[in-house]
Amino acid sequence: MELYITGIEHPQRVPASGEESLLNQLALAGFGQMVYAPCGGNGTCKQCTVTVSGRLASLSGEERDFHREEVLACRWRPAGDVTVYLDPATGQDRNIAVHSRDIPGGGTGLGLAVDIGTTTVAAYLYDLASGRCLHTAAGMNAQRVFGGDVISRIQYCEQPGGLEQLCAMIRDQIRELAASMCPDLTQIRSLSIAGNTVMEHIFAGLSPVSIGVAPFTPLSLFGDSRPASQFYDCFHPEAELYLSPCVAGYVGGDITAGLLSSGASESDRTVLFLDIGTNGEMGIGDKNGFLTCATAAGPAFEGAEIACGSSAQDGAINHVEPDLSYTTIGELPPETICGSGIIDGVAALLYNEIVDETGRMEGERHTIGGEVYLCAADIRKIQLAKAAIRAGIETLLELSGKTYDDIDQLLIAGGFGAYVDITSACAIGLLPPALKDKTRHVGNSSGMGAAMALDPGCRAQLAKVDESCTYVELSGSKVFNDKYIEAMMFDEWEDVLDG
Ligand code: FES
Repeated sequence: MELYITGIEHPQRVPASGEESLLNQLALAGFGQMVYAPCGGNGTCKQCTVTVSGRLASLSGEERDFHREEVLACRWRPAGDVTVYLDPATGQDRNIAVHSRDIPGGGTGLGLAVDIGTTTVAAYLYDLASGRCLHTAAGMNAQRVFGGDVISRIQYCEQPGGLEQLCAMIRDQIRELAASMCPDLTQIRSLSIAGNTVMEHIFAGLSPVSIGVAPFTPLSLFGDSRPASQFYDCFHPEAELYLSPCVAGYVGGDITAGLLSSGASESDRTVLFLDIGTNGEMGIGDKNGFLTCATAAGPAFEGAEIACGSSAQDGAINHVEPDLSYTTIGELPPETICGSGIIDGVAALLYNEIVDETGRMEGERHTIGGEVYLCAADIRKIQLAKAAIRAGIETLLELSGKTYDDIDQLLIAGGFGAYVDITSACAIGLLPPALKDKTRHVGNSSGMGAAMALDPGCRAQLAKVDESCTYVELSGSKVFNDKYIEAMMFDEWEDVLDG
């Protein structure tokens, strides 16, 4: 039996197994990036569709022939030769914007900085002599096929061979991104990597499993340089590789790098720094140090587990106005709704009093455009996700003895901040309305921090940032639990949308 994988530039034939799902076999064949699988193959997200021809068996044993039909890749396995038609556009999420800036020069050769996000991976190639960024490259994290959030990746690492597989995937992806920017990889003499603590563990080949259970202790907090030859044999033989320092199991090297590159760690003024993904990582502080915490938002803001949700792909509703008019990516007929559209959509439903302040929806679902709707269960998921983030902010504020008046700036890091409408995020109570006019996006601050750390002097600064951070564990915190219940309400939209 074999899989014929086509629709791509170089179609391939690979041996097929009747024991494993199509999803796993595509991932093992190196096509994990081209199937969106935020639930990691659990059958709950309904996003892992691929078009197939041939004979397949469902997980429950039903066998049938398909002729260019869509199936969920995690629910079917080959029962004969199968042709899989991949869509090259999948995996090229339009929300991946890679911005770069110059770093201190004076070095030799080329440097590679990488931000390993749970969802996306961004790489930057630098000329270390001039400090100029020569090229950038990015893609969806190849590990996404094994789940959209860090918890699913941790769970996959618990399986035999799971860690080795995820580790090889991310190392290969980084090498491929580097090769797309630099044909002679031996010119690269320095590598700097930043990611959350789980991503750095998997890259380094260390098990993240202990981060998944209380007391959530990581095996390493990194912050050190090693010979790159421990990880790769393709770069300059004397190349070194630096991993950004982590504060705790859920406040990682992406945050220390972000605090440095955004200027927050040097600021005289009080900053709230927020990185929203499947986890919300955040800190309040100034040049004297940051109080940090993390809270689990889940994948709802990325469109996963929302009935018509998707990543930011063609045909996704990406913006909804209070009058319920909308736009789609690529100006195509609406097919799905992505994170920014979902937040706008909930704000618009509040504004039109289709959803009340407790989150109760009039009717079971409300159509946004075409066949795309938000339903009562979607509103509940957004309510839980936004309450987790907001309660984290409120808890840090209380523990640091500050009020919103004391916060001079809210810095939002990462792709979420770049695309989400701040007014809508305040209207649904995800962000505090009191900080609406003090909010600024800082782009991929993790990637820029990794780039800065190509310079040894900046690594010393990054170590100081790390030392100045104090971590607060929120699980089991009474303050957090009380704030979480309060933050479930949608009772701030009138101040934002009518004001
Ligand atoms: S339903 Fe297949 S990966 Fe989620």
